[in-house]
Amino acid sequence: MAGERIRVLIVDDHDATVQTVTTMLQLDPEFEVIGVAGDGKTGVDQVAALHPDVVLMDINMPVMDGISATEIIVQQHPGTAVVMLSAQTDHEYLRRSMNVGASYFLAKPVSSDEIYNAIRRANEVNRLRSQRYAAPPPEPEPTAPAGTAIAFFSPSGGVGRTTIVTNLAVALQKIAPTAIVDLSLPFGDIAVLLNAPPKAKSIGDLVGKFATLRGADVDQVLFTHRSGVRALLAPPSPEMEERIGPDDVRKLLTVIRQQFRFVIVDTWASYGETMLAVLESADRIVLPFTLELTSVKNARVFIEVMRKVGLDPKVSLLVNRVDQPNGLKLSEIEGGLGRKSSYQLSTDEASLRLAMNRGLPVVDTHPDSKLAREFAAVAKAVAAEPALTR
Ligand SMILES: Nc1ncnc2c1ncn2[C@@H]1O[C@H](COP(=O)(O)OP(=O)(O)O)[C@@H](O)[C@H]1O
Ligand SMILES: [Mg+2]
Repeated sequence: MAGERIRVLIVDDHDATVQTVTTMLQLDPEFEVIGVAGDGKTGVDQVAALHPDVVLMDINMPVMDGISATEIIVQQHPGTAVVMLSAQTDHEYLRRSMNVGASYFLAKPVSSDEIYNAIRRANEVNRLRSQRYAAPPPEPEPTAPAGTAIAFFSPSGGVGRTTIVTNLAVALQKIAPTAIVDLSLPFGDIAVLLNAPPKAKSIGDLVGKFATLRGADVDQVLFTHRSGVRALLAPPSPEMEERIGPDDVRKLLTVIRQQFRFVIVDTWASYGETMLAVLESADRIVLPFTLELTSVKNARVFIEVMRKVGLDPKVSLLVNRVDQPNGLKLSEIEGGLGRKSSYQLSTDEASLRLAMNRGLPVVDTHPDSKLAREFAAVAKAVAAEPALTR
């Protein structure tokens, strides 16, 4: 560490060498000689007692030679590095020293620069290595996803995505732990519907952390709604959208799926790379639409796009405001789209408005309303679907 001296133990049976080396080290305040031992065995004992950063080790010594001593020190005291310093310069000694784990091999006589550099490097390498040992073990890579991620996507705005996501999540929470992820990055309004404080954390707080994202990181930025639903809110400023890419949303969904049975994703109308990554990562895609011409036309285009990218088997249709046909019949529309709708919700402006004013979903404010019961039914159907294997 900067400012701290490197503590050195000298193990050598020649007084002359000990004197020379001690003098060299005393000339540089970076080093501190904390002890001297005259044989390998005493050297090992001194290491155990003093925990030096670096040992300067002779080879030929009485009682225990330097190579045996080094072997013990390296095994028992990984915080201590050993630099060999020997008159025995033949290859065999060098090889055996390295085999038992010495960091450097210096031949006598040495210059002070050689000693300084070897001690510095040996200490630095050892310090980095022990930091790595001390670091917490990495979290195991997520394996089989625990929960089901359902993306609500619509190529047209205003069809009720956010309303549905919020209410369905609260209904699902009554069955199993559920999270909302607001990936409607430029226009997220889950925060408004859940009445989150303006300073609540958001996905913006995860920018720059996605590559190493762990469950605990996500947990820290989730907003907790009164219903128990947790929500990862959209960033407060729309520019953040550019800083969240396809790899980021993939990683996010992988991680958050480990923590919740259901992950309900709100999206925005885009066929950009990031949104395609969201659709790819989701287990299911629900396409809400209303029975208006533009909404139906956009739904048809979307199904076609999904077919081209091979994602259409994951898509199911939800007809919102099914009781407001605007002259178009559901059965004809389903025929035109080439598939039946899986879910239907009716219109209830009054309850939704009151609920919104209270920052609660209709499933809580008007649990007996037709719409609330429909949401509960959709939740039950979603929960009954078998988990997909990927
Ligand atoms: N079933 C419904 N009955 C009445 N109004 C609805 C219904 N679903 C959505 N709305 C209203 O439609 C508007 C748009 O809904 P919103 O959820 O914001 O759509 P999106 O997220 O797709 O843009 C909101 O004012 C919402 O209250
Ligand atoms: Mg919305």
